[in-house]
Amino acid sequence: SVGGAVGTTGIGIPQLGLGVFQTPEGKETVDSVRWALEAGYRHIDTAAVYGNEESVGQALRESGVRRREVFVTTKLWNDDIRAGKTEEAFYQSLDRLGTSYVDLYLIHWPVDGWQRAWEVMVDLYHQHRIRAIGVSNFHQHHLEELRMISAVRPAVDQIESSPQFTNQDLVDYCHGKRIHVEVWSPLGGTGGDLLKDPVLQRIADEHGKSPAQIVIRWHLQRGVIVIPKSTHQERIKQNFDVFDFTLDENEMAAIYALNTGKRNGADPDNFSF
Ligand code: A2P
Repeated sequence: SVGGAVGTTGIGIPQLGLGVFQTPEGKETVDSVRWALEAGYRHIDTAAVYGNEESVGQALRESGVRRREVFVTTKLWNDDIRAGKTEEAFYQSLDRLGTSYVDLYLIHWPVDGWQRAWEVMVDLYHQHRIRAIGVSNFHQHHLEELRMISAVRPAVDQIESSPQFTNQDLVDYCHGKRIHVEVWSPLGGTGGDLLKDPVLQRIADEHGKSPAQIVIRWHLQRGVIVIPKSTHQERIKQNFDVFDFTLDENEMAAIYALNTGKRNGADPDNFSF
């Protein structure tokens, strides 16, 4: 568990983790995950479609950190949902990770067939292969449908959210239903210019921190789980060094005010992958 005052969530998800989206299988992922574990991270977020589960597993084993001390998330890919291959896909992920269970398994996107996939995930959960099940990129209407068809509440909805696209209505909806929110693209994503924003730079200067640290701290204080991605050791360390300062109300509000309402990634109601 990490986070001091901000703590961990009910199912024990460390509130700050490492995301490995677009980190290629091999040395880059192995190094990133190892550096993160050395820096104190105990939460790694991957997905079958990222193609790097083997490297995540390798880094976990090589780190010497005990398996049960690390919260590992992976995700069921769209093609497997559509094909009704949830169970096969899950066991393939386990195989690649080289672990006997995952902490959190997510439906990656709400594609046709996700309702059937959810039932299979519930079974795997009851078989103790998964400590918690959840969803990703679900809008409120998907969550409402899920409530209608299943007695099992998703532990998590992992959604896009950053100061540029706060997605706050959905965050509030989830929190009202006791669904934890994890945010992807927390720093505005690859190639974005969020971290050059002068408001963030000013707040960063005042705290002797970087704009990335300010954004991560903002996420922690708004009560979401944040999984910034980096493949650079210094940044991985820096992104975890966010527990020794606090943003005040005015600073929090100034960062919320950067919201443009424009997504960086795909809209869960309109995508084609
Ligand atoms: P890199 O992997 O080269 O470090 P997000 O988590 O929003 O998807 O954004 C991740 C992007 O931000 C990546 O391109 C990552 O690049 C970059 N990044 C991550 N941490 C930092 C940091 N502390 N300072 C600057 N850029 C960062």
